[in-house]
Amino acid sequence: MTFRARHLLGIDHLAPAEIVTLLDLAERYVEVNRRTVKHADALEGMTQINMFFENSTRTQASFELAGKRLGADVMNMSVAQSSVKKGETLIDTAMTLNAMHPDLLVVRHPQSGAVNLLASKVNCAVINAGDGRHEHPTQALLDALTIRRAKGRLQRLTVAICGDIAHSRVARSNLILLGKMENRIRLIGPPTLMPSGVRDMGVEVFDDMREGLRGADVVMMLRLQKERMDGGFIPSEREYFHRWGLDAEKLALAAPDAIVMHPGPMNRGVEIDGTIADDINRSVIQDQVEMGVAVRMAVLDLLARNLRAERGRVAAGVMA
Ligand code: NCD
Repeated sequence: MTFRARHLLGIDHLAPAEIVTLLDLAERYVEVNRRTVKHADALEGMTQINMFFENSTRTQASFELAGKRLGADVMNMSVAQSSVKKGETLIDTAMTLNAMHPDLLVVRHPQSGAVNLLASKVNCAVINAGDGRHEHPTQALLDALTIRRAKGRLQRLTVAICGDIAHSRVARSNLILLGKMENRIRLIGPPTLMPSGVRDMGVEVFDDMREGLRGADVVMMLRLQKERMDGGFIPSEREYFHRWGLDAEKLALAAPDAIVMHPGPMNRGVEIDGTIADDINRSVIQDQVEMGVAVRMAVLDLLARNLRAERGRVAAGVMA
């Protein structure tokens, strides 16, 4: 089994073989989650703390379920954003929690890099559940599993990622993962919502959505992340939908069997037409949610194995 990571801070440090190992294990958890009795014991006796410094529905709920289904003691700490003060407060909080001996720490934070900083201070496994505009690795992994199941492969696909790319950690993690697996990536959106340096990322960039969608196998829509915008990035929501919103007419330009994805939360009528989102023949949005629990179980399981092995080596060293 190939999976060496101690923490999951981003997709960047994962090798393609580690990604495949993780997705294969997640497939097994998809089956477990469809049973009436969903318990497994991979985290038996372990403590998992979920620290969310930013709002979350899907991610927090699925990390909680994933930990519980694997037998961990799970504690949720929702930290109001207003009480977050960069630096000292974060590290103080981390040190306080560290003293309670958690084994797994799941962290979401509005600042890019905050989770990496925290990981350097604690002696448990840390999982990034989204940090600022930086990375959201479990989202990219659950998207990868959803794509692999729908398309039968995770290579040589044309994937169109559309909308607010600049503010999206989901886009960043997906770009890295899909790039590692040798797919063709197109970014579509208004130039104001493209990250700087996009021309050097080895992707194709389109302002015209109709052009960008042509022949795409996967259409991944993103939310306008208004909470990360500090000014006028788009003309109006109405105009935005007209140019970059996914509707039946634009989707008709993609491959006939193209799938539609969205990480949620969705703004219907802004980036996606509600009927497309609900079309069970095209939309895999609910599959993404289902895969989210399985992928998070696989992540927790693999990190717990590495943690146990590391502690075993330390203990053996102490005894010797
Ligand atoms: C995403 C996030 O928080 O980055 N949501 C999620 O995790 N499902 C995307 C978003 O907020 O738009």
